[in-house]
Amino acid sequence: MSRFRLTPNALIAAAAVVFLGVLISACSSDAGASPDQPLAFSHRIHGENEIDCAYCHEYVDRYAVAGIPRVQSCMDCHEFMEPEAPSADLDLLVEFSEAGDEIPWVRLYELPDYTHFNHRWHIEAEIDCATCHGDIGASDRATRHMVYDMGWCMTCHEEQEASVDCLTCHT
Ligand code: HEC
Ligand code: HEC
Ligand code: HEC
Ligand code: HEC
Ligand code: HEC
Repeated sequence: MSRFRLTPNALIAAAAVVFLGVLISACSSDAGASPDQPLAFSHRIHGENEIDCAYCHEYVDRYAVAGIPRVQSCMDCHEFMEPEAPSADLDLLVEFSEAGDEIPWVRLYELPDYTHFNHRWHIEAEIDCATCHGDIGASDRATRHMVYDMGWCMTCHEEQEASVDCLTCHT
């Protein structure tokens, strides 16, 4: 009677859609993910020009967030640099700047709000950026080094005798 009878084929199709959804949501939080960015930013090129991580991520030793540079910080250099070769990405940078828009970078890392992380303690403990972020400084495309789950935090805290009290990370 109904025009929307569930045929076996429809069921299989529905199951496939659900499965695909699960697969996509799993991938988007996977280690190794390297999302497309609004413009191609190369950590390697900037690193080879001896620009320090903390020059761009200027709050990393002070606040809870390391900070992604604002367009104006990029322009502090690029306004005064004649590019060696035409670059569509540099043109895009100028477009964002002239429009007064921030670049909508796709984030790799974001812990849930109920956790409490601050770079400062870890930098004071002299843990390298690369221990947690991999070799991002040498790459042309930022890649998620790993998924930060609770087990990852706990393993290192146990090894290094840092606090494993629940309230250390959950307040
Ligand atoms: C401290 C100075 C400095 C800052 C800040 C800076 N850059 Fe650069 N950038 C450079 C240098 C040096 C190069 C390499 C020389 C060149 O390609 O012109 C470069 C190259 C580039 C290139 C060209 C890469 C290629 O394909 O040749 C792009 C795109 C770029 N930067 C984007 C950005 C963006 C986006 C920001 C802000 C998030 C930024 N830069 C911040 C100095 C800087
Ligand atoms: C010239 C500026 C600049 C320098 C220098 C720089 N970064 Fe970045 N960083 C960026 C920009 C812009 C992004 C966002 C775009 C992207 O992910 O490619 C970013 C993204 C990141 C991210 C991913 C953050 C997230 O959650 O999406 C990490 C981690 C990071 N940088 C670490 C480093 C480390 C470690 C160094 C030094 C080895 C460094 N950066 C040097 C500009 C810079
Ligand atoms: C002990 C591991 C650890 C070390 C060491 C570490 N990070 Fe992170 N970083 C993280 C975690 C976890 C996040 C996600 C934080 C969040 O979502 O609140 C993060 C986020 C970031 C981000 C994303 C943007 C933001 O505002 O938070 C940047 C950029 C970054 N780190 C840069 C650095 C740089 C540069 C260094 C070295 C000076 C460094 N990190 C050292 C674990 C680490
Ligand atoms: C590679 C090792 C390592 C990883 C990974 C790591 N930590 Fe830590 N953490 C440390 C060390 C070492 C300290 C400093 C302990 C001290 O000063 O006594 C610390 C300190 C802290 C403190 C402050 C503790 C206090 O006593 O005030 C918090 C909060 C914290 N970490 C949260 C996190 C969270 C959340 C994660 C995961 C997202 C994480 N850490 C991942 C090594 C690590
Ligand atoms: C060193 C930091 C740290 C400590 C200590 C810690 N947690 Fe967590 N916890 C985290 C992080 C980071 C997450 C978020 C993980 C994610 O995004 O998947 C989390 C997630 C959780 C969740 C959410 C469910 C889940 O697993 O994703 C619960 C519940 C939780 N923690 C309970 C606890 C309890 C209970 C303790 C004490 C025995 C504790 N945590 C100690 C860092 C910590």
